Amino acid sequence: MNEVIKTIKKRRMTGKFKNSQLTDEQIIEIINAGQHAPSVQKQQAWNFTVIQDRELLNELSKESKLIGQKSDAEVIRKLNSKEDYHVFYNAPTVIIVSADKEAMMPEAECIAATQNMLLAAESMNIGACWISALEGLFNSHKGDEYRKKLNLGDNQIPQLAISLGHIESRPEKAYPRRNGKYKFIR
Ligand SMILES: Cc1cc2nc3c(=O)[nH]c(=O)nc-3n(C[C@H](O)[C@H](O)[C@H](O)COP(=O)(O)O)c2cc1C
Repeated sequence: MNEVIKTIKKRRMTGKFKNSQLTDEQIIEIINAGQHAPSVQKQQAWNFTVIQDRELLNELSKESKLIGQKSDAEVIRKLNSKEDYHVFYNAPTVIIVSADKEAMMPEAECIAATQNMLLAAESMNIGACWISALEGLFNSHKGDEYRKKLNLGDNQIPQLAISLGHIESRPEKAYPRRNGKYKFIR
């Protein structure tokens, strides 16, 4: 098995991070991998906001949980009502991936960049988790306030986030994959 496929299969979400911070070089290397994702018409509609301000991360988690507690989905309400649930799992670094408003397929590009970053982190033995939980907050009445706090300007739409840090623990084994969901038409 080649190294890329090994990394793809080895990647797990990290839900427990060490307190120690990553280096700027590590973070930039991960972002750079994101910037090498495919892009519609080479638009490269992604933008990356690196947050390491613990207070701001806690605030985003708290506000996002308050929104989640009002979700229509019971499973989301329950998760967000848990006292010990932190939206970023207390990761020391969070990258918010935002899209240029005018881009042709902004969400898809940000998703492609995010997956690249998760795999880059894995290849560097850095823990990461894809976080979509902020969506509710950005779409709420507080959305503008937080877009301003993150300095996103008027033409950047936050799409998703990634928690990053040194791995404290995570599941060793992948959950069973639904293999065989393909067919050939020849
Ligand atoms: C679209 C999408 C949104 C996700 N949002 C979250 C999230 O908000 N919080 C979280 O802890 N994990 C989130 N995840 C990560 C999944 O929980 C994780 O991928 C899943 O548990 C499988 O584990 P694995 O990544 O180790 O294979 C998200 C994954 C995807 C693809």
